[in-house]
Amino acid sequence: MRLTIITGASRGLGAALAEALMAPDHRLVCMARSAMSALQNRAASRGCLVDARRVDLCDVSKAVAALEDSLAAVSPETLTEICLINNAGTVEPVRPAQRLLSDEIAASVTLNLSAPMALTSAFLRLTSGWPAQKRIVNITSGAAHKAYEGWSVYCATKAALDHFTRCVALEQQQLPRGARIASLAPGMIDTDMQAVIRALAPGDFKEQSRFLALKESGALATPEDAARRLIHHIEANDFGAEPVVDLRRI
Ligand SMILES: NC(=O)c1ccc[n+]([C@@H]2O[C@H](COP(=O)([O-])OP(=O)(O)OC[C@H]3O[C@@H](n4cnc5c(N)ncnc54)[C@H](OP(=O)(O)O)[C@@H]3O)[C@@H](O)[C@H]2O)c1
Repeated sequence: MRLTIITGASRGLGAALAEALMAPDHRLVCMARSAMSALQNRAASRGCLVDARRVDLCDVSKAVAALEDSLAAVSPETLTEICLINNAGTVEPVRPAQRLLSDEIAASVTLNLSAPMALTSAFLRLTSGWPAQKRIVNITSGAAHKAYEGWSVYCATKAALDHFTRCVALEQQQLPRGARIASLAPGMIDTDMQAVIRALAPGDFKEQSRFLALKESGALATPEDAARRLIHHIEANDFGAEPVVDLRRI
Protein backbone atom coordinates (compact mmCIF):
# COMPACT_ATOMS: atom_id res chain seq x y z
CA MET A 1 0.00 0.00 0.00
CA ARG A 2 1.18 3.54 -0.82
CA LEU A 3 0.13 6.73 0.94
CA THR A 4 0.39 10.26 -0.44
CA ILE A 5 -0.47 13.44 1.41
CA ILE A 6 -1.29 16.37 -0.89
CA THR A 7 -1.91 19.93 0.26
CA GLY A 8 -4.08 22.16 -1.91
CA ALA A 9 -5.88 19.18 -3.45
CA SER A 10 -9.25 20.89 -3.96
CA ARG A 11 -8.38 22.35 -7.40
CA GLY A 12 -5.58 23.13 -9.83
CA LEU A 13 -2.39 21.11 -9.76
CA GLY A 14 -3.15 19.47 -6.39
CA ALA A 15 -6.50 18.11 -7.60
CA ALA A 16 -4.85 16.77 -10.79
CA LEU A 17 -2.13 15.08 -8.72
CA ALA A 18 -4.78 13.45 -6.51
CA GLU A 19 -6.75 12.33 -9.55
CA ALA A 20 -3.69 10.80 -11.21
CA LEU A 21 -2.73 8.90 -8.06
CA MET A 22 -6.16 7.34 -7.41
CA ALA A 23 -5.71 3.55 -7.37
CA PRO A 24 -6.84 0.67 -5.15
CA ASP A 25 -3.33 0.26 -3.69
CA HIS A 26 -3.01 3.97 -2.94
CA ARG A 27 -4.41 5.94 0.02
CA LEU A 28 -4.58 9.71 -0.20
CA VAL A 29 -4.71 12.39 2.46
CA CYS A 30 -5.97 15.60 0.84
CA MET A 31 -5.85 19.00 2.55
CA ALA A 32 -7.55 22.27 1.54
CA ARG A 33 -10.05 24.76 2.94
CA SER A 34 -12.83 23.70 0.53
CA ALA A 35 -14.83 20.50 0.58
CA MET A 36 -13.46 17.75 -1.66
CA SER A 37 -16.50 15.48 -1.90
CA ALA A 38 -16.38 15.14 -5.72
CA LEU A 39 -12.76 14.03 -5.48
CA GLN A 40 -13.64 11.58 -2.68
CA ASN A 41 -16.50 10.11 -4.75
CA ARG A 42 -14.29 9.61 -7.82
CA ALA A 43 -11.63 7.99 -5.64
CA ALA A 44 -14.18 5.68 -4.02
CA SER A 45 -15.39 4.57 -7.48
CA ARG A 46 -11.79 3.54 -8.22
CA GLY A 47 -11.35 1.71 -4.90
CA CYS A 48 -9.06 4.41 -3.48
CA LEU A 49 -9.50 5.64 0.08
CA VAL A 50 -9.25 9.42 0.55
CA ASP A 51 -8.94 11.10 3.92
CA ALA A 52 -10.08 14.65 3.07
CA ARG A 53 -9.10 17.26 5.63
CA ARG A 54 -10.60 20.74 5.50
CA VAL A 55 -7.91 22.88 7.04
CA ASP A 56 -6.59 26.40 6.58
CA LEU A 57 -2.84 25.94 6.19
CA CYS A 58 -2.34 29.50 7.42
CA ASP A 59 -3.12 27.98 10.82
CA VAL A 60 0.06 25.92 10.93
CA SER A 61 -0.68 24.18 14.26
CA LYS A 62 -4.02 22.97 12.90
CA ALA A 63 -2.35 21.77 9.69
CA VAL A 64 0.21 19.77 11.69
CA ALA A 65 -2.56 18.39 13.94
CA ALA A 66 -4.45 17.25 10.81
CA LEU A 67 -1.34 15.45 9.55
CA GLU A 68 -0.77 13.83 12.96
CA ASP A 69 -4.39 12.70 13.06
CA SER A 70 -4.22 11.23 9.54
CA LEU A 71 -1.00 9.35 10.19
CA ALA A 72 -2.29 8.01 13.54
CA ALA A 73 -4.94 6.11 11.53
CA VAL A 74 -2.31 4.31 9.42
CA SER A 75 -0.55 1.01 10.20
CA PRO A 76 3.07 1.77 9.21
CA GLU A 77 3.90 -1.89 8.50
CA THR A 78 1.28 -1.98 5.69
CA LEU A 79 3.00 0.84 3.76
CA THR A 80 5.73 0.41 1.15
CA GLU A 81 5.89 4.11 0.24
CA ILE A 82 4.78 7.34 1.84
CA CYS A 83 4.99 10.74 0.18
CA LEU A 84 4.19 14.29 1.29
CA ILE A 85 3.48 16.78 -1.51
CA ASN A 86 3.49 20.37 -0.27
CA ASN A 87 1.56 21.86 -3.18
CA ALA A 88 -0.78 24.55 -1.75
CA GLY A 89 0.42 28.04 -2.52
CA THR A 90 -0.55 31.53 -3.54
CA VAL A 91 0.99 34.14 -5.83
CA GLU A 92 -0.78 36.92 -3.90
CA PRO A 93 -0.18 39.61 -2.82
CA VAL A 94 0.99 40.99 -6.19
CA ARG A 95 1.94 44.66 -5.99
CA PRO A 96 5.11 46.73 -5.65
CA ALA A 97 6.61 46.18 -2.17
CA GLN A 98 5.83 49.67 -0.87
CA ARG A 99 2.11 48.97 -1.32
CA LEU A 100 1.99 45.59 0.43
CA LEU A 101 0.03 45.17 3.67
CA SER A 102 1.75 43.44 6.57
CA ASP A 103 -1.10 40.97 7.16
CA GLU A 104 -1.13 39.79 3.55
CA ILE A 105 2.65 39.37 3.58
CA ALA A 106 2.38 37.23 6.73
CA ALA A 107 -0.44 35.10 5.28
CA SER A 108 1.49 34.40 2.09
CA VAL A 109 4.72 33.56 3.94
CA THR A 110 2.76 31.22 6.20
CA LEU A 111 1.00 29.39 3.35
CA ASN A 112 3.97 29.22 0.95
CA LEU A 113 6.75 28.63 3.47
CA SER A 114 5.88 28.07 7.16
CA ALA A 115 3.21 25.44 6.43
CA PRO A 116 5.40 23.27 4.13
CA MET A 117 8.30 23.61 6.57
CA ALA A 118 6.16 22.59 9.55
CA LEU A 119 4.49 19.72 7.65
CA THR A 120 7.89 18.47 6.48
CA SER A 121 9.19 18.57 10.04
CA ALA A 122 6.14 16.75 11.43
CA PHE A 123 6.20 14.19 8.59
CA LEU A 124 9.87 13.36 9.27
CA ARG A 125 9.28 13.10 13.03
CA LEU A 126 6.11 11.00 12.78
CA THR A 127 7.46 8.55 10.17
CA SER A 128 11.08 8.28 11.36
CA GLY A 129 10.81 4.64 12.44
CA TRP A 130 8.55 3.56 9.59
CA PRO A 131 9.88 0.96 7.14
CA ALA A 132 8.25 2.64 4.09
CA GLN A 133 10.30 4.60 1.54
CA LYS A 134 9.75 8.29 2.31
CA ARG A 135 9.56 11.12 -0.21
CA ILE A 136 8.84 14.80 0.25
CA VAL A 137 8.00 17.08 -2.68
CA ASN A 138 7.88 20.83 -2.33
CA ILE A 139 6.18 22.48 -5.29
CA THR A 140 8.29 25.48 -6.20
CA SER A 141 8.39 27.85 -9.15
CA GLY A 142 10.76 29.39 -11.70
CA ALA A 143 10.02 32.55 -9.67
CA ALA A 144 12.41 31.21 -7.00
CA HIS A 145 15.26 32.09 -9.39
CA LYS A 146 13.85 34.80 -11.63
CA ALA A 147 12.89 38.12 -10.03
CA TYR A 148 9.51 39.55 -11.13
CA GLU A 149 8.46 43.11 -10.28
CA GLY A 150 5.35 42.87 -8.09
CA TRP A 151 5.99 39.25 -7.04
CA SER A 152 8.48 39.97 -4.25
CA VAL A 153 6.65 37.86 -1.65
CA TYR A 154 6.00 34.90 -3.96
CA CYS A 155 9.58 34.92 -5.33
CA ALA A 156 11.06 35.17 -1.83
CA THR A 157 8.92 32.38 -0.35
CA LYS A 158 9.69 29.97 -3.20
CA ALA A 159 13.44 30.77 -3.02
CA ALA A 160 13.36 30.13 0.74
CA LEU A 161 11.42 26.88 0.24
CA ASP A 162 14.11 25.68 -2.17
CA HIS A 163 16.88 26.43 0.30
CA PHE A 164 14.97 24.74 3.13
CA THR A 165 14.74 21.69 0.85
CA ARG A 166 18.51 21.69 0.21
CA CYS A 167 19.24 21.75 3.96
CA VAL A 168 16.78 18.96 4.80
CA ALA A 169 18.15 16.86 1.92
CA LEU A 170 21.65 17.08 3.46
CA GLU A 171 20.29 16.02 6.87
CA GLN A 172 18.28 13.11 5.54
CA GLN A 173 21.18 11.79 3.41
CA GLN A 174 23.07 11.06 6.66
CA LEU A 175 20.31 8.79 7.99
CA PRO A 176 20.02 5.05 7.26
CA ARG A 177 16.30 5.28 6.34
CA GLY A 178 16.19 8.98 5.60
CA ALA A 179 13.56 10.60 3.41
CA ARG A 180 14.33 11.77 -0.11
CA ILE A 181 13.24 15.35 -0.69
CA ALA A 182 13.12 17.69 -3.69
CA SER A 183 11.66 21.03 -4.70
CA LEU A 184 10.09 20.65 -8.15
CA ALA A 185 9.11 23.58 -10.39
CA PRO A 186 6.27 22.45 -12.68
CA GLY A 187 6.28 25.28 -15.25
CA MET A 188 3.24 27.41 -16.05
CA ILE A 189 -0.11 25.67 -15.63
CA ASP A 190 -3.63 26.71 -16.58
CA THR A 191 -5.07 26.98 -13.05
CA ASP A 192 -6.84 29.59 -10.90
CA MET A 193 -3.42 30.96 -9.97
CA GLN A 194 -2.90 32.06 -13.59
CA ALA A 195 -6.45 33.50 -13.67
CA VAL A 196 -5.58 35.59 -10.61
CA ILE A 197 -2.50 36.95 -12.44
CA ARG A 198 -4.55 37.83 -15.54
CA ALA A 199 -7.17 39.61 -13.39
CA LEU A 200 -4.70 41.84 -11.49
CA ALA A 201 -5.35 45.59 -11.47
CA PRO A 202 -3.41 47.48 -14.16
CA GLY A 203 -0.12 48.69 -12.70
CA ASP A 204 0.21 45.96 -10.08
CA PHE A 205 2.19 43.59 -12.34
CA LYS A 206 4.35 44.84 -15.22
CA GLU A 207 4.50 41.50 -17.05
CA GLN A 208 0.75 40.88 -17.03
CA SER A 209 0.43 41.22 -20.83
CA ARG A 210 2.92 38.36 -21.32
CA PHE A 211 0.77 36.12 -19.09
CA LEU A 212 -2.37 37.12 -21.02
CA ALA A 213 -0.59 36.18 -24.27
CA LEU A 214 0.56 32.83 -22.85
CA LYS A 215 -3.05 31.91 -22.06
CA GLU A 216 -4.32 33.11 -25.45
CA SER A 217 -1.66 31.18 -27.37
CA GLY A 218 -2.38 27.95 -25.47
CA ALA A 219 1.14 27.89 -23.97
CA LEU A 220 0.00 26.95 -20.46
CA ALA A 221 0.18 23.27 -19.53
CA THR A 222 -3.01 21.57 -18.42
CA PRO A 223 -3.01 20.56 -14.73
CA GLU A 224 -3.29 16.93 -15.90
CA ASP A 225 -0.12 17.16 -18.04
CA ALA A 226 1.78 18.95 -15.29
CA ALA A 227 0.67 16.31 -12.75
CA ARG A 228 1.80 13.50 -15.06
CA ARG A 229 5.25 15.03 -15.49
CA LEU A 230 5.60 15.58 -11.74
CA ILE A 231 4.55 12.04 -10.86
CA HIS A 232 6.97 10.63 -13.42
CA HIS A 233 9.78 12.52 -11.69
CA ILE A 234 8.61 11.69 -8.13
CA GLU A 235 8.41 7.96 -8.89
CA ALA A 236 11.81 7.79 -10.62
CA ASN A 237 14.61 5.89 -8.87
CA ASP A 238 16.82 8.97 -8.77
CA PHE A 239 14.19 11.21 -7.15
CA GLY A 240 15.99 13.48 -4.64
CA ALA A 241 19.42 13.16 -6.30
CA GLU A 242 19.05 16.88 -7.07
CA PRO A 243 17.21 18.80 -4.32
CA VAL A 244 15.88 21.53 -6.63
CA VAL A 245 14.66 20.65 -10.13
CA ASP A 246 13.04 22.80 -12.78
CA LEU A 247 10.95 20.35 -14.80
CA ARG A 248 10.94 22.71 -17.79
CA ARG A 249 14.68 22.14 -18.18
CA ILE A 250 14.67 18.33 -18.28
N1 LIG B 1 -0.17 27.67 -11.92
C1 LIG B 1 1.08 27.92 -12.27
O1 LIG B 1 1.36 28.45 -13.37
C2 LIG B 1 2.20 27.54 -11.34
C3 LIG B 1 3.51 27.71 -11.81
C4 LIG B 1 4.57 27.35 -10.97
C5 LIG B 1 4.31 26.87 -9.70
N2 LIG B 1 3.01 26.73 -9.27
C6 LIG B 1 2.80 26.21 -7.92
O2 LIG B 1 1.91 25.11 -7.97
C7 LIG B 1 1.21 24.99 -6.73
C8 LIG B 1 -0.28 24.83 -7.01
O3 LIG B 1 -0.73 25.99 -7.68
P1 LIG B 1 -2.07 26.04 -8.55
O4 LIG B 1 -1.71 26.77 -9.77
O5 LIG B 1 -2.69 24.70 -8.62
O6 LIG B 1 -2.94 27.02 -7.63
P2 LIG B 1 -4.53 27.12 -7.42
O7 LIG B 1 -5.24 26.64 -8.61
O8 LIG B 1 -4.75 28.52 -6.97
O9 LIG B 1 -4.81 26.10 -6.22
C9 LIG B 1 -4.28 26.37 -4.94
C10 LIG B 1 -4.64 25.23 -4.01
O10 LIG B 1 -4.12 25.59 -2.70
C11 LIG B 1 -5.19 25.56 -1.77
N3 LIG B 1 -5.03 26.61 -0.77
C12 LIG B 1 -4.88 27.94 -1.00
N4 LIG B 1 -4.84 28.59 0.17
C13 LIG B 1 -4.97 27.66 1.14
C14 LIG B 1 -5.01 27.71 2.55
N5 LIG B 1 -4.91 28.87 3.21
N6 LIG B 1 -5.16 26.56 3.25
C15 LIG B 1 -5.29 25.38 2.58
N7 LIG B 1 -5.24 25.25 1.25
C16 LIG B 1 -5.08 26.40 0.55
C17 LIG B 1 -6.45 25.78 -2.59
O11 LIG B 1 -7.57 25.19 -1.94
P3 LIG B 1 -8.70 26.00 -1.12
O12 LIG B 1 -8.91 27.33 -1.78
O13 LIG B 1 -9.86 25.07 -1.19
O14 LIG B 1 -8.14 26.11 0.27
C18 LIG B 1 -6.14 25.03 -3.87
O15 LIG B 1 -6.43 23.67 -3.70
C19 LIG B 1 1.55 26.26 -5.94
O16 LIG B 1 2.54 25.97 -4.97
C20 LIG B 1 2.12 27.19 -6.99
O17 LIG B 1 3.03 28.12 -6.44
C21 LIG B 1 1.96 27.05 -10.07
